[in-house]
Amino acid sequence: MTSFTHVELTIKDAVATIQLNRPEKKNALNPEMHQNIHDALTEIEHDRGVKVIVVTGTGDAFCGGMDLEKCFLEPFDEPEAFDASNQLAVSWSRRLKKFPAATVAKVNGWCFGHGFQLAGLCDIVVTAEEAVFGMSEINFGIFPGGGTMWVAAHNMGRKQALYYALTGESFTGLQAVSLGMATRAVPKAELDAEVDAIVASLAGKNVHALRTTKHVYESAVELDFPKSIDVELAKLYELSYLTENEWIRKALEQFKRRAYRPGLQSYTIDEER
Ligand code: COA
Repeated sequence: MTSFTHVELTIKDAVATIQLNRPEKKNALNPEMHQNIHDALTEIEHDRGVKVIVVTGTGDAFCGGMDLEKCFLEPFDEPEAFDASNQLAVSWSRRLKKFPAATVAKVNGWCFGHGFQLAGLCDIVVTAEEAVFGMSEINFGIFPGGGTMWVAAHNMGRKQALYYALTGESFTGLQAVSLGMATRAVPKAELDAEVDAIVASLAGKNVHALRTTKHVYESAVELDFPKSIDVELAKLYELSYLTENEWIRKALEQFKRRAYRPGLQSYTIDEER
């Protein structure tokens, strides 16, 4: 485990866990913590075998959003310091969004502002039913910025995104599923087990297949149908090359022997990791 000032990073086999660790401030993101997240992502990048990143928080908060005092109020009269903390925040958001590993947010509690964005940027969000999500910016006189509106617009429907952005009203983890902000909600007592099961499933997949699935999804939401077909075909050939045709030589050979049912299980990878 690597302990940064306000973030703990654990890498075990193919799974990295980034734990926001400033519980006394509801894991609000001060400038040091933004740098800690960058440092954690850099360390994960160096480990080419990481398939899954889990992001969660210590205590009763997932993330209380930007530290309103340390990032906004205190540096406001020093434009360069003010801009620096904003740039640090949006730059790790950009990195996380295009990270090749599958990202899973384990939302254990309060989830506001940039924390709302953090959850929304992850590929999968598993939340405690009791967690509280919110775009609270309107409550202190601004709007969800720095990428948070993008996250709302790309996860929630228009009527929901605008309602919650305009009113600043919060919603529960249970509501987050039907609003598009979470994949699944479970009672808080079951959160760890639920995430562990999903992570185990992801970690059992071929690393190149996982990365390509993410890449193809991201291009599919941007491209028209004919262009997406081109990308999807090209990526299939690339994946075949990178895996030495594992899907044909191993996965479908196992199917030929009826060793598994692909609709219900994965083939056996036998990976050394
Ligand atoms: N920035 C700075 N400090 C924050 C913070 C933030 N985003 N979120 C929480 N804190 C601090 C509180 O000010 C308090 O500090 P103190 O002990 O020095 O008084 C400490 O964390 C504990 O929070 P508290 O408000 O006492 O906890 P609570 O359980 O009563 O309420 C929240 C929890 C999350 C509802 C409340 O802290 C809150 O509204 N935070 C702001 C959330 C937000 O709007 N974030 C968007 C930022 S972009």
